[in-house]
Amino acid sequence: MSLQIREGVSLKPFNSFAVEASARQFAEANSDEQVRQALACAAERGLPLMLLGGGSNLLLTGDVEALVLRMASRGIRVLEDDGERLLIEAEAGEPWHPFVQWTLQQGFAGLENLSLIPGTVGAAPMQNIGAYGVELKDVFAGLTALDRQSGELREFELADCGFAYRDSLFKRETGRWVILRVRFALSRSATLHLDYGPVRQRLAEQGIEAPTAVDVSRAICAIRSEKLPDPAVLGNAGSFFKNPLVTAELAQRLRSEHGDLVAYPQADGLVKLAAGWLIERAGWKGFREGDAGVHRLQALVLVNYGQASGQQLLSLARRIQADIAERFAVTLEIEPNVL
Ligand code: EPU
Repeated sequence: MSLQIREGVSLKPFNSFAVEASARQFAEANSDEQVRQALACAAERGLPLMLLGGGSNLLLTGDVEALVLRMASRGIRVLEDDGERLLIEAEAGEPWHPFVQWTLQQGFAGLENLSLIPGTVGAAPMQNIGAYGVELKDVFAGLTALDRQSGELREFELADCGFAYRDSLFKRETGRWVILRVRFALSRSATLHLDYGPVRQRLAEQGIEAPTAVDVSRAICAIRSEKLPDPAVLGNAGSFFKNPLVTAELAQRLRSEHGDLVAYPQADGLVKLAAGWLIERAGWKGFREGDAGVHRLQALVLVNYGQASGQQLLSLARRIQADIAERFAVTLEIEPNVL
């Protein structure tokens, strides 16, 4: 089928912040062939091509003078199954959480801690999504991407992807790779990860002594629903800042001034601080100016109460960054892609 290109399309339904911005041109790709068609059309028209997954890690600060291509390809398949271990492949346009639920319904474990994360399968490797002690890289088995420079398909293994905390080669080489499909290594008898924050406690409260992957997923959905706003109800892009890595020396100094500082020492000697704690301590939690605000239950999440523009959200973020730098000498890095 040939690609349908529309002119002047509102991107409000396609970004989870629900910010108003218009795309000069807009199309949806359901196949590799349509991705290639879109690249050729953009080149012909002299427009850049901007890729869009679920739009859940994106802040639009103005109209987009590009051909915006939404990845909409669907399909999930079991490539290998030895009775215990599985290799599962999903197309880039598959919505993430329904995909996670599908794997759990089949009895495949591995993705349970990544339940209820907004976005698509194809976007997941970009920022190496992570939650409750598991990152995408822990279950990643490979991906197929189109190299926009050479026009060729390339297979990536784990070691090729440069995954780090909320980071990857695909994020660093912005615009080069179109992720087409992703493979996951799952298993039937799971090693569950229950040690992050409130997971184990939540299961215990429910009287679950020997949890299954499905139990873990349910507990995580409940925890997330309590703390994180549902983008369908209140526009947001999840955590707006990364948790900063600081020197042990700075962490020590902050700890001596703030006994309840939340800090996680890392293997490399650096210390990861909870940005949500810093922002809350600086008094921003629940702050609202016009329709741009800081969520009242999770200070790491900026929210759009309705009509906030991308510029207003960005300017709020800049004020928070400046305040945190002044108070704690800590640099907060913005997590979503700002366009
Ligand atoms: N905290 C506060 N105040 C706040 C928020 C958090 O004091 O307003 C404290 C909490 O009490 C806790 C610590 O900070 O001691 C960590 O909080 P939480 O467990 O809620 O996680 P987070 O560090 O704020 C990260 C991820 C989330 C992920 C959760 C759970 C980043 C940038 N964010 O948040 O990911 O769901 O851990 O694993 O790493 C996302 O990336 O969009 C996202 C939501």
